[in-house]
Amino acid sequence: MGLEEIINSIDQEPYYKEKEGVLYCTDCMDILPQIPKESVDLVIFDPPWSYDSYKQFSKQNIKYSVLNDRDIFFCLRKVFDILKKTKHIYFFTSNNRLNKDLPLFSQTGFRYHMILVLLYKGIGLGYGYRHEFLPVVFGSKQGTYTTKEHSISNIFSPDNFNTLEKSEYHMSIMIKQSTNANDIILDPFIGSGTTAVASKKLGRQWIGIEISQKYCDIAVRRLKKVRFGEDLRSSDITKWLK
Ligand SMILES: C[S@@+](CC[C@H](N)C(=O)[O-])C[C@H]1O[C@@H](n2cnc3c(N)ncnc32)[C@H](O)[C@@H]1O
Repeated sequence: MGLEEIINSIDQEPYYKEKEGVLYCTDCMDILPQIPKESVDLVIFDPPWSYDSYKQFSKQNIKYSVLNDRDIFFCLRKVFDILKKTKHIYFFTSNNRLNKDLPLFSQTGFRYHMILVLLYKGIGLGYGYRHEFLPVVFGSKQGTYTTKEHSISNIFSPDNFNTLEKSEYHMSIMIKQSTNANDIILDPFIGSGTTAVASKKLGRQWIGIEISQKYCDIAVRRLKKVRFGEDLRSSDITKWLK
């Protein structure tokens, strides 16, 4: 099933659309149930860190986007259905959430493979066990996993990390390890659009959902600056891309 067919099955006007990608500016819990089963090749899942206290500011008013454990379970269950068999998911969690998120992850049916560690630096981190990393749960819909490049470690060194926008470099590694050119990547909490930007540069198609219009606008601005497949032409990464 192609991207166009997926878009046609969703009863909601895209906020932004280009040939190889689409962004919905709304609650992902409304969109996910409409995406056909087994239609995407990779899921990047990066929900707000503090599920119960997340605040979103809209133009008109203050809006609260509250995701509790049941919502996260619902979203994980939906992306499980949407993902093709044997394909991968990267679930960005946090040290505070890991003990809750791992059981949720397994209960939805995903197969747990490992934790990827994204190292980061910040004032005061690293002392008295203050964590200096972000855990990312790596799993698949079924079976064992294979990645493209065996020399890549599951510990990723720091790269301009901050609390919302994820590193395009880290995202590119995950995308390259788990997909082929033109595959479709879904990110239901796409924030400022890092997954879409990395996917586009790497010649992959993408579906993004984001509840905050402010972040949708940032994502669109970023996307307009990149060309589909532009990194496919850059010599340093082509060696293990296809
Ligand atoms: C941790 S951030 C994602 C950051 C993103 N990976 C990036 O690199 O910019 C989580 C995002 O989820 C969005 N969000 C929260 N609740 C949502 C919902 N119900 N549906 C869709 N997006 C939601 C937030 O507005 C926030 O931008």
